[in-house]
Amino acid sequence: MSVEAHELPLHVQRDQFDPPSGISALRDRPGLEKVTDSLGRPAWLATRYEDAREVLGDASRFSNQQVPAVPMPGIDPEKMRAGQLLALDPPDHTRLRRLLTGEFTVKRIRRLQPRVEEIVTEHLDAMEAAGPPADLVTDFALPVPSLVICELLGVPYDDRDDFQRRASQQIDLTLPMEERGRVAVESRTYMGELVDRAVAAPGDDLLGMLVREHGDDVTRDELIGIASLLLIAGHETTANMLALGTLALLRHPEQAAIVREDPEATAPAVEELMRFLSIVHAAVPRVATVDTEVAGQPIAAGDMVLAQLAAADRDRAVTEDPDRLDIGRAASPHVAFGHGVHHCLGAPLARMEMATAFPALLRRFPTLAATTDVERADFREGTFIYGMRSLPLTW
Ligand code: HEM
Repeated sequence: MSVEAHELPLHVQRDQFDPPSGISALRDRPGLEKVTDSLGRPAWLATRYEDAREVLGDASRFSNQQVPAVPMPGIDPEKMRAGQLLALDPPDHTRLRRLLTGEFTVKRIRRLQPRVEEIVTEHLDAMEAAGPPADLVTDFALPVPSLVICELLGVPYDDRDDFQRRASQQIDLTLPMEERGRVAVESRTYMGELVDRAVAAPGDDLLGMLVREHGDDVTRDELIGIASLLLIAGHETTANMLALGTLALLRHPEQAAIVREDPEATAPAVEELMRFLSIVHAAVPRVATVDTEVAGQPIAAGDMVLAQLAAADRDRAVTEDPDRLDIGRAASPHVAFGHGVHHCLGAPLARMEMATAFPALLRRFPTLAATTDVERADFREGTFIYGMRSLPLTW
């Protein structure tokens, strides 16, 4: 695939499973690369693992809060920022994140495992009953994490068609700004109604817990922000990892067989898939709070810096033969869940969902295969989060 064929900047493009070669080549150049972000704003691009970690790991030098909000017609940026952990710096970020951390510990998430197994089994049963072919995205990869986050948060699963559509539109860079603004307002209105319902009658779910235990510490706008972020982050990301990860495993049948047969191999396989696929591939933005430097590159206070996670996770300085998927390799660190104070809150949940779903799918359908070759696979283009629009499979 030629890089020039795209209108989008290099750092939001992919070439099947890989970052485009143009962006990988930047790792070998000194300093950081001067680029424009997806809105045409100037920025420094960090593509090496060490540099991405440095930027993400120092919230005092690199701010989330100072990243200019995307101007969307009819939207008050400050209202939209409330409760959005990714748009806040400490101490506001610390205060809100602390309310949630207890709900996402590894121990807490382990308690959800039986229910996740049940949800996975139900969806595999339905796929089997309907018979091949199936679209893995609509039949499995999207509904499983959607149902899990709905139950956890207290969002009616019956509303899924609307919130799934809104989630994918909100991260779609090819949509006109007006359209994304309209969808963002629609999303907030929907979540506002759910928050009001939870305030009136707090249920036995995360929203209910927040209202019951922290109702006096958080504003309505913050509750809406927190819940909206969890709903989007909770299903869009994991859904795309499940679909893209399945296709990646099917291209390496010997590795798929290991995931199918050896329970010990599951956790390392999930980490390697996370590294190799790094689906949050649109470089994540920060703004320098002081004059500083990264990799010898002088950066002025106020400059935007983008950390390109997908490129950082293919860094030869960290991973041997990084462009090869190898679930058997010695654990290789990655930034696919980010790093620093904004490291993915939902990582324990996402890991558990993937570790449950991949082996269960491969065991249920040992002859699982894609119906088209990878050149014609329906990869998502032009979105902040990479993945598959559809994935027709047979068995
Ligand atoms: C943050 C990736 C699943 C909730 C992040 C960040 C990344 C990421 C890269 C940091 C972004 C930045 O620093 O700018 C992923 C991937 C997932 C996944 C690849 C699936 C495989 C989830 C799930 C949830 C979730 C299931 C919720 C249930 C969040 C939240 C943040 C976050 C709330 C913001 C944390 C903060 O700012 O303190 N995620 N995520 N994520 N993620 Fe995830």
